[in-house]
Amino acid sequence: MNTTLLSKYDVAAPRYTSYPTVPYWSEPLPEPAAWLQHVSSAVQADRSISLYIHLPFCDSLCTYCGCNKHITKNHAVEHPYIQAVLREWAMYRDAMPVKPVLRELHLGGGTPTFFSPENLQFLLENILQDVEIAPQHDFGFEAHPWSTTEAHLQTLFNLGFRRVSIGVQDFDEDLMRLVNRRQTIDSVVRCTELARQIGYDSVNYDLIFGLPKQTLTHIQEDARYIARLKPDRIAFYSYAHVPWLKRSQCAYSEEDLPVGAEKRKLYEEGRRLFETEGYVEIGMDHFALPHDSLSKALGDKTLHRNFMGYTPYKTRLMIGLGASAIGDTWDAFMQNEKTIAEYQQRVQAGELPVLRSHVLDETDQSVRSHILRLMTTFETQWTPAEAEQEWLQQALGRLEPLVLDGLIMLEPFHIRVTEEGRNFLRNICMAFDARYWKKQPEGRLFSQAV
Ligand SMILES: C[S@@+](CC[C@H](N)C(=O)[O-])C[C@H]1O[C@@H](n2cnc3c(N)ncnc32)[C@H](O)[C@@H]1O
Repeated sequence: MNTTLLSKYDVAAPRYTSYPTVPYWSEPLPEPAAWLQHVSSAVQADRSISLYIHLPFCDSLCTYCGCNKHITKNHAVEHPYIQAVLREWAMYRDAMPVKPVLRELHLGGGTPTFFSPENLQFLLENILQDVEIAPQHDFGFEAHPWSTTEAHLQTLFNLGFRRVSIGVQDFDEDLMRLVNRRQTIDSVVRCTELARQIGYDSVNYDLIFGLPKQTLTHIQEDARYIARLKPDRIAFYSYAHVPWLKRSQCAYSEEDLPVGAEKRKLYEEGRRLFETEGYVEIGMDHFALPHDSLSKALGDKTLHRNFMGYTPYKTRLMIGLGASAIGDTWDAFMQNEKTIAEYQQRVQAGELPVLRSHVLDETDQSVRSHILRLMTTFETQWTPAEAEQEWLQQALGRLEPLVLDGLIMLEPFHIRVTEEGRNFLRNICMAFDARYWKKQPEGRLFSQAV
């Protein structure tokens, strides 16, 4: 990759799992109950829903981790947490005028496999009895290879799960020890093989590039395991270094982190090797084999992206249950209390545990559509009427240097991201980010774009 472009565009930039990005949520709902009205209208308009359940516990701390989690070895925490999630779910069900049709269900963490299979079964049976399950549904969960047992995989399979996302990060055991992650190559192989034997039809691996002391040799070794184990999908995440938010990232020296051109090379080597193995690059940082539903959705231009990542389905309503979970009705966002204690207390008091929210105005919704199209189809277009709007004219002004640098092709009422531009998708989306440009952050908010 062109190193001049790399140094020019390696700036702090959001990953755009939402627009507006969470730090820019500034038009809150009038009161927590207003959120349920948004949910109710969304279900009335379209019964299909996506459900995300955040299961925040982990029994040890992986120091690189940027997720919302709580470290404990005390499994007595499972029961009260599940009770709170079910109570929260009951508030949603009571507010829905019709029975929802569950299209997508994702268990994320933390470590969902921290919970016993029996407790997961209890939680999910209670939720599933209250919904109609869409004939074409997508149920998946995040599996830590160290704690995932055959009973976890079988229990969730029996409940309709067909997709498992295995946290691998890197196959090298020394590298994993350095970030305090308990994991062996054998545990990844075992988890993969068990999932396949049981009948899961999509296995995803989460890999990270840019970890401390990670080199090209590690990526090449990872690719050898990929060639052997052939996961259907790979999420190849750029390591997000945010020590001001995640203190555990101070456990290693910043000098050991590959940055800039060195970090980018890790991605490019991974991409080259995955493509040699037949993987197709999907949007940003994701790969899938051609038979996988994500590749098909890319081809059909039906690919969607929400807080759970890339998905072949689009639902208007996403409900997030559990501490820190985010809900999305397309015209509003809501995030739950982040700490487990506050989340549980508020739910137990019969209250919706809203920490923050944002109601999207018309401009937000337009910007959101453009960013979503760029992230899923590498192009976006607008109408002559939209072109008159000030925010879009300003965005087009910000895009001019990116056109000159060959990152996008500007045509009348349309832009297309070039091959080179795909490496800078976050920067291209940022040109549309009206709220960011209206008020740039004073402190550090986002990780580097590369
Ligand atoms: C909630 S975590 C994983 C679930 C499970 N606890 C595990 O470790 O296997 C979801 C994914 O986020 C990614 N992730 C976590 N911290 C990250 C960071 N700082 N930068 C980039 N990706 C990160 C990892 O790839 C991880 O598998």
